[in-house]
Amino acid sequence: MSETAAALRCRGWRQETILRLLENNLSIAEDPDNLVVYAAHAKVARDHESLRRIVGALTTIQDGHTLVVQSGKPIAVLPTGPRAPVVLLANSNLVGRWATPEVFYDLERRNLIAWGGLTAGCWQYIGSQGVLQGTYETFAQVAREHFGGSLRGRLVVSAGLGGMGAAQPVAITRMLGGVSLIAEADAEKARRRQEEGVVDACFGDLDVALDLALAARSGDATAPHAIAYAGNGAALLEGLLARGITPDVVTDLTAAHDLRSGYLPIGVGPAQAAELRRGDPGKLEALALQTMARHVRAMLQLREQGAVVFDYGNNIRPHAAGAGVTDALDIDIFTARYLRPLFSRGIGPFRWICVSGEDDDLDAIDEICAELFADIPRIADWISLAGAHVRRQGLPARIAWLGHGERTRLARAVNQAVADGRLHGPVAFTRDHMDSGSMTHPNIITEAMADGSDAVSDWPLLNALLNTASGADLVALHAGGGGYAGYSQSSGMTVVATGTDDGAARLQGALNVDTAIGVLRHADAGYPQAIESARQHGLGLGVVSTDERA
Ligand SMILES: NC(=O)c1ccc[n+]([C@@H]2O[C@H](COP(=O)([O-])OP(=O)(O)OC[C@H]3O[C@@H](n4cnc5c(N)ncnc54)[C@H](O)[C@@H]3O)[C@@H](O)[C@H]2O)c1
Repeated sequence: MSETAAALRCRGWRQETILRLLENNLSIAEDPDNLVVYAAHAKVARDHESLRRIVGALTTIQDGHTLVVQSGKPIAVLPTGPRAPVVLLANSNLVGRWATPEVFYDLERRNLIAWGGLTAGCWQYIGSQGVLQGTYETFAQVAREHFGGSLRGRLVVSAGLGGMGAAQPVAITRMLGGVSLIAEADAEKARRRQEEGVVDACFGDLDVALDLALAARSGDATAPHAIAYAGNGAALLEGLLARGITPDVVTDLTAAHDLRSGYLPIGVGPAQAAELRRGDPGKLEALALQTMARHVRAMLQLREQGAVVFDYGNNIRPHAAGAGVTDALDIDIFTARYLRPLFSRGIGPFRWICVSGEDDDLDAIDEICAELFADIPRIADWISLAGAHVRRQGLPARIAWLGHGERTRLARAVNQAVADGRLHGPVAFTRDHMDSGSMTHPNIITEAMADGSDAVSDWPLLNALLNTASGADLVALHAGGGGYAGYSQSSGMTVVATGTDDGAARLQGALNVDTAIGVLRHADAGYPQAIESARQHGLGLGVVSTDERA
């Protein structure tokens, strides 16, 4: 074992692993001085004193005891039992009627609450890899559903090359072989994306951008396949319509959820928008809404002409509907259309983090994956693409969308590799909160559930209870905070491959129930894939799942 891998500061590797995950979140945080990991104020702890006391508790806590954290503030270490988690957290939960941004901000001002985002407050964030794979998985599912599994020779048009949007050309073109044409209204940012190699070329002239995109679609290998149009997304779609071009896929990843600072109206550049934001924000919002209405009308028209069109979770449809586009909500939301069939089988954003800090460990787990899942291209393809395209951020980590049975299979193999000394240290397994059964968000993840149960948040609560009952090392219950207060309820879990029998039992127990409840949530809502998956795995009333067939 290397020196870092071996430096145990806590009473055991379960505790040490969780401490290293907390430190890892701070090491890749956007604003570590203020403990903010991402999204303006998603924090790892309430304040510096709380952080100090959490670290202190993690270094002294023994097995059989649990550290209790309330909105980023440590409350106690209590005796719990042999299979109890090391840490239990509840972050930013408010009861229904009080779950508003105003109440949240007032409590935050009085230092009574903190928002943990989804993965920041429970120390599960692994950097931008999650966004890349979410984007890859969505477009891979689009390819599977509409184009026989490939985006080769397909033109995908979108807008926004920001933090999340920049993953689009990488997923569409570099990973799935399609042609991507993405509008970015901030010309300087569009050019920067070219310098970074995110896109191959950037044009301010719409006709040039369109000609080259069409050449690439028709197989001209000399034409750039990842193209930025330095201009407005609505203008790009209107340009396509004017020239009678129907792309294969259309979506949008401008930050349209935020009328004031996320979406630029046609004819308004970033500098002018900044001026309006200061001087006349109402006018800026009205102009943004007008352009959004044009943008969504063009999306609807392109859909009529045969393009596959979906909303990518940025709220552009509801805004356009509010601005008079009465059929805006006819456009599918990506979660219901593309991710729900995966969630129905418990397939979602699973991750592992090598707390040894050794890149070799990540490579070794990639190899284990390649071996275990050689016959599942959904997994095998991603693992080799991730190896080639994902840059390291913080501790070596990998995300891969694994399903029910697949997660326990991998975790058992990794635990064995830790036991055999093939890995330099323990490995933490965790997942995004936005997973199969662990989140209710009626505008994104649970929109348009088949049985209309969009707003029911019993599921993430049950998910957390099950994780706690079956051996997880950390369990968190989160609700939306700040501007998101009242919008979501979610739960997170982490379990550690320590290479011991205890670790093996915890991994098997906690990861099995974690996806089981996801499959069952979707089966209960009536999704046929979930009913079939529950039947295959023996999940449901009267059957105790052993996951042995997995
Ligand atoms: N699909 C998902 O899973 C998911 C997850 C998280 C966030 N989101 C949403 O995705 C959206 C984008 O997120 P981000 O982090 O990339 O935001 P960001 O603010 O980093 O980037 C948005 C980009 O859009 C550009 N832009 C704004 N208006 C434009 C227009 N009319 N035409 C062309 N370009 C325009 C901006 O210049 C900016 O570069 C947000 O609304 C976010 O809430 C989706």
